[in-house]
Amino acid sequence: MRVLCVCLGNICRSPAAEAVFEKLIAERGLHQRVELDSAGTSGWHRGAPADSRMQAAGQKRGLILRSRSRPVDPVDFELFDHILAMDSDNLAWLQAEKPGGSRAQLSLILDWHPASEIRNVPDPYYGGAQGFEHVLDLLEPACAGFLDKFIHP
Ligand code: 4NP
Repeated sequence: MRVLCVCLGNICRSPAAEAVFEKLIAERGLHQRVELDSAGTSGWHRGAPADSRMQAAGQKRGLILRSRSRPVDPVDFELFDHILAMDSDNLAWLQAEKPGGSRAQLSLILDWHPASEIRNVPDPYYGGAQGFEHVLDLLEPACAGFLDKFIHP
């Protein structure tokens, strides 16, 4: 199964989601079964590593953010089985860009959170350190919930 995580800049939320998935996949021994990537609905930060504040928050939880920012490509809608949007703006953009008949299933990452009362992972870019922790607090259960739902042992 191929999974693409998408946010606006592809330097904060979606690289974090990718790293959370990578850690869970390693813990669960699912390397052979899941391929991951992340991308942005904008190309503003093309080629950039994840935001250093997001990297620092992740490092405290054993997450390594390796991604380099890239924009979503039309071919992604054919290559990926699931495209997980971090918020409803990202989802609306993906729905508008998705070619008719393409295979990718679009959803919000927090659709897979077992208990979240909010639908959108808040954009932490213009806020303080707490915002980056909040992103990870939301993503950890959501990514686990997604794997529980779609990857059966
Ligand atoms: P992300 O956060 O979508 O989670 O990567 C953002 C990164 C950069 C900007 C906005 C959001 N920006 O305006 O440059």
